Amino acid sequence: MASGKSFYITTPIFYVNDAPHIGHAYTEVAADVLARWHRQAGDDTWSLTGTDEHGEKILRTATANGTTPKEWADKLVHEAWKPLLKTINIQNDDFIRTTDERHETNVQLFLQRLYDAGYIYSGEYEALYCVGCEEFKPQSEIVDGTGPFKGQKVCAIHSKPLELLREKNYFFRMSDFTERLLALYEERPDFVQPESARNEVIQFVRQGLSDLSISRSSFDWGVKVPWDDSHVVYVWFDALLNYVTAVGYGQDEEEFARRWPATHIVGKDILRFHAVIWPAMLMAAGLDVPKQVFGHGWLLVGGEKMSKSKLTGIAPTEITDTFGTDAFRYYFMRAIAFGQDGSFSWEDLSARYQAELANGFGNLASRVVAMVARYFDGVVPAETDPLEADLAIRAVVAEASAHADAAIDKLAIHDALASIWTIVDELNGYITDQEPWALSKDDAHRDRLGTVLYTALEGLRALAVLLSPVLPEATARLWTSLGATVTLGELDAQPLREAGTWGQLSAGITVSPLEALFPRIESTVA
Ligand code: MSP
Repeated sequence: MASGKSFYITTPIFYVNDAPHIGHAYTEVAADVLARWHRQAGDDTWSLTGTDEHGEKILRTATANGTTPKEWADKLVHEAWKPLLKTINIQNDDFIRTTDERHETNVQLFLQRLYDAGYIYSGEYEALYCVGCEEFKPQSEIVDGTGPFKGQKVCAIHSKPLELLREKNYFFRMSDFTERLLALYEERPDFVQPESARNEVIQFVRQGLSDLSISRSSFDWGVKVPWDDSHVVYVWFDALLNYVTAVGYGQDEEEFARRWPATHIVGKDILRFHAVIWPAMLMAAGLDVPKQVFGHGWLLVGGEKMSKSKLTGIAPTEITDTFGTDAFRYYFMRAIAFGQDGSFSWEDLSARYQAELANGFGNLASRVVAMVARYFDGVVPAETDPLEADLAIRAVVAEASAHADAAIDKLAIHDALASIWTIVDELNGYITDQEPWALSKDDAHRDRLGTVLYTALEGLRALAVLLSPVLPEATARLWTSLGATVTLGELDAQPLREAGTWGQLSAGITVSPLEALFPRIESTVA
């Protein structure tokens, strides 16, 4: 399975100052769908997630909770962040913590290399800092406060006052990389995506880059600067390096060569760190820049970014407890064009669950399996003399599979799902038109009835494979019900790029009863 081309995908590493909300889960699911797709397509896939544990924000949270930052991070990782992965069924290959020894040692190695190469110098610094963003804010992101913060300068993202910091810092000569970065965006138009994000980044870099403060000396929760232990490494400089320290940078060059470079999935609020600072750091170290940086949109509540600090965060379990994990994964991938903002609403979730999952896909699967049981004693019938309507279904399956794979390649997950759903819609229409219940009434139509049900079963077979990255639980149940394991093997072993090849189910195998894939949910919306 691991013989294909390398596909290394990452999520941002999450701050452990608080528990996850559905905005965080959204990033995780998107990266997981892409990883599962590539893994099942036979690509040499590696998916990484983890936690960002250093810096002032975590230190302050831990102190406010009467504990040490490491104890706080351990607690949050074990009680909140790792459980999140189970809640939404993430199949990550690794989980990195920035307090891991493998990370800290190699952050120091990286920094020392930059220092030795002359990219680091020391200087005085005074600027406005947002602890929420862990960033010295550029002028464009500083706004006047309102309400309790009237008269103060606040962060445009967090709406909280900025702090004026004056420290001796070490600086990274990021300004040296302005031209090389612009050339990179020019030469590789898909390096930063989507297009709107790319334009924003280019505009920002065109104004010229300043050098970056990469150490702090007023607190000590971080990786020590190797040549000066009165400083800790700036939390973002430390955090970005997780993407290479997790795959062997500095300790396993073979693994590093196999995995790197990565596709980074990040929220648009942290795009600049990934599309500007990170490639500049890599260029300075003589390493390849990432393959791609994709900035997705925000989940909005009342038109604003959902956030715990603004008390608008919804815990993922609030949704999965009622609708299940698959529905969570499906809803966010289908309802929001990947790359754009989206408003979450219980009504929309409920409506899509009912219309698309329960009535569209779930019902289709139950009906077809039930008809095979009723009319053929549960044995998959043979296909004979396909007519135009049957051939049309084959064509839809082939086209949808090809389109979906092309869409995934462009990270357009919503488009992939829309393509796959044409199979659901066409099959539902096909069954209505072909009326297998009417064919069943006359023995003369026995062959025709077999062909219709075989066509529907083959459509379901393709759907199970194509939807398995998004709906791993439902498709596994469908696969078992189709009896496909006997002749085709496990669902996750089905080559995804061949899902559209017709005729894979064998006549003569036995289907088994299928309980509703998406059971009816009573009074879900208050
Ligand atoms: N620790 C940094 C990332 C370091 S990566 C080297 C960080 N952490 S975070 O926990 O604040 O955010 C992690 C991710 O969650 C970001 O990609 C952010 O965009 C995403 N989201 C947080 N709130 C979100 C929404 N309301 N909607 C969508 N994504 C959101 O930033």
